[in-house]
Amino acid sequence: MMSAVEIPAGLKELLQEYTVEVLRRRPPNLVEFAVQHFTRILEGQKNDQRAKRRSARSARKGVTFETNSTEANKDDEAEEKDAIKSTTAKYNRRVSVCAEPYNPDEDEDDDSEPRIVHPKTDEQRRRLQDACGDILLFKTLEQEQFSEVLDAMFEVFVKPEEHIIDQGDDGDNFYVIEKGTFDIFVEKDGKRLCVGKYDNKGSFGELALMYNTPRGATIVATQEGALWAMDRATFHRLIVKNNAKKRRMYEAFIESVPLLKSLELSERMKIVDVLGARAFKDGEQIITQGDQADCFYIVESGQVRIMIKSKTKAGQQDNTEVEVARCSRGQYFGELALVTNKPRAASVYAAGDTKLLVIDIQAFERLLGPCMNIMKRNISQYEDQLVALFGSSDDLKH
Ligand code: CMP
Ligand code: CMP
Repeated sequence: MMSAVEIPAGLKELLQEYTVEVLRRRPPNLVEFAVQHFTRILEGQKNDQRAKRRSARSARKGVTFETNSTEANKDDEAEEKDAIKSTTAKYNRRVSVCAEPYNPDEDEDDDSEPRIVHPKTDEQRRRLQDACGDILLFKTLEQEQFSEVLDAMFEVFVKPEEHIIDQGDDGDNFYVIEKGTFDIFVEKDGKRLCVGKYDNKGSFGELALMYNTPRGATIVATQEGALWAMDRATFHRLIVKNNAKKRRMYEAFIESVPLLKSLELSERMKIVDVLGARAFKDGEQIITQGDQADCFYIVESGQVRIMIKSKTKAGQQDNTEVEVARCSRGQYFGELALVTNKPRAASVYAAGDTKLLVIDIQAFERLLGPCMNIMKRNISQYEDQLVALFGSSDDLKH
């Protein structure tokens, strides 16, 4: 006679949730979607447990958390059930750990975390590598760390109007865009404003993970898209750890950049956290006049030449470029198109081997607001330069 089979706790809820998600999102490949779906749940469980460990550790250090005390006192079995329940929510929202202070040096237990690997086909890995090629946060990683990043990332497909991130939530994943467009909304004083867009490239979701703050914006897909996600623990182990190194490497240099002098030290360090470093060979083109702009540059070493297409006597543009300025260590360029919301007003080339620090448009808008007056003042000098060269400053008025 067959004995009664005991159904494990939580199985029904897990399968129901998977079915609901399948019906809601209609993925093309059920098995692939199942792998993604259950991986997210597993990661959510690990995040919850990690958050509890952190919470307990920081309580010992005298830091206050928003986790409620009855939850902290539950025994292991109840915690496991809780984790299963809490992870049935979309994208596995975490328990709140918002009061944790940021210190990239202090991540005692991260090294003991197991390395997360999501197996990928060659085709997936190629797509992932393409999507990650220009991600600034990865630009200062060693090769070994970068391949750990690639191993840990998992694919997420999104539908139009889907909320990938909701402002105020706890941070679970960091996302790199493979394809798709996304609106950025920020709610302030009860008003919800669209403050920008991502158009088939870039990344988002780093802030809540870096600083243990609630999500700072809502990100909504405006068409079907594909993202690569990295769980919070891997983000901490690789990116936040690397930020400690970045701060040590760039602190003195960033302190010396005249444009950033008016910022608080903590504001300058936030710039360091999100910047990327790029090297260019002599003569290599960095910016092309007329292109859409998505970042801002500071020269760390070497020099760049700013070149503008000259005008014929009839005032028409020909293709000969004239050098209008040079920028060297500590100087910046590429702000004009971001400030005026116009195409690039000049082309920029490396003059000798050059190292640049790069800040993306979203970070530029978020962090460099206080320097806007200085930039605007300097922009008026460009007009003088152009008037001196061409007799007019039309190049600045695309
Ligand atoms: P995070 O706060 O984790 O989640 C929302 C993300 O939106 C945020 O990280 C940034 O990556 C991104 N973002 C883009 N623009 C803004 C902005 N103006 N304010 C806050 N977050 C922004
Ligand atoms: P952007 O237009 O974004 O890209 C080209 C950059 O060259 C521009 O921002 C400025 O930072 C820089 N630049 C320096 N001198 C000039 C000039 N005279 N006219 C236009 N751009 C200049």
